[in-house]
Amino acid sequence: MIIAIDGPAGAGKSTVARRLAERLGFRYLDTGAMYRALTWLALERDVDLDNGAELTALARENEVTVEEAGRVTVAGRDVSTAIRTVEIDRVVSSVARHHTVREVLRERQRALAAEGNAVMEGRDIGAVVCPGADVKVFLTAEAAERARRRTDERPGLGADALATDLRLRDARDAAQMEAAADAETIDTTDLTIDEVVDRIEALAATRTRG
Ligand code: DC
Repeated sequence: MIIAIDGPAGAGKSTVARRLAERLGFRYLDTGAMYRALTWLALERDVDLDNGAELTALARENEVTVEEAGRVTVAGRDVSTAIRTVEIDRVVSSVARHHTVREVLRERQRALAAEGNAVMEGRDIGAVVCPGADVKVFLTAEAAERARRRTDERPGLGADALATDLRLRDARDAAQMEAAADAETIDTTDLTIDEVVDRIEALAATRTRG
């Protein structure tokens, strides 16, 4: 079974997807980490983020591995911590907007999905990567709440700056964000993590029962 969890930054995707995967004994696949790792490598190698062809070649030549426990590696380097910075937050959309880059990463994501039970988190999983996913969820939350959640994850930046960054990233990610027509939208603003996980687990149970 494939469970697709899409939605904007700060909607709770990672926390929810990881906990759901634990409960179900499924793999957890964070596709945003792939775009982040590629962005990290592009910065490291001084690749122009406007150069789609060069970024695509970089993606082809350097497979990003994303492990269950959250360890992310690219080009032989552990970038698990390095990809969760304000600097990467600010430029990752510039890499993700190139269609040919997306095709390379989507192909890998589909290959991972083909291995079986997984909770996959991203922006375009239910609509494009795995349109045949058994469960499709689109998580949202009010902008102020999303910024508040990010404050805990990016302690170096104040709430106002984070809210501005999120707004800018939302605008840049809009082109990549595709809610599947058959996705169930869940507004997580006033829900606890476990309440969200419970709802998705219930959806998964209905699919299992057919
Ligand atoms: O979920 P995240 O914030 O770690 O994702 C980082 C960036 O990667 C996000 O700004 C948009 C992009 N992304 C994407 O375009 N498609 C995906 N399936 C996942 C992430």
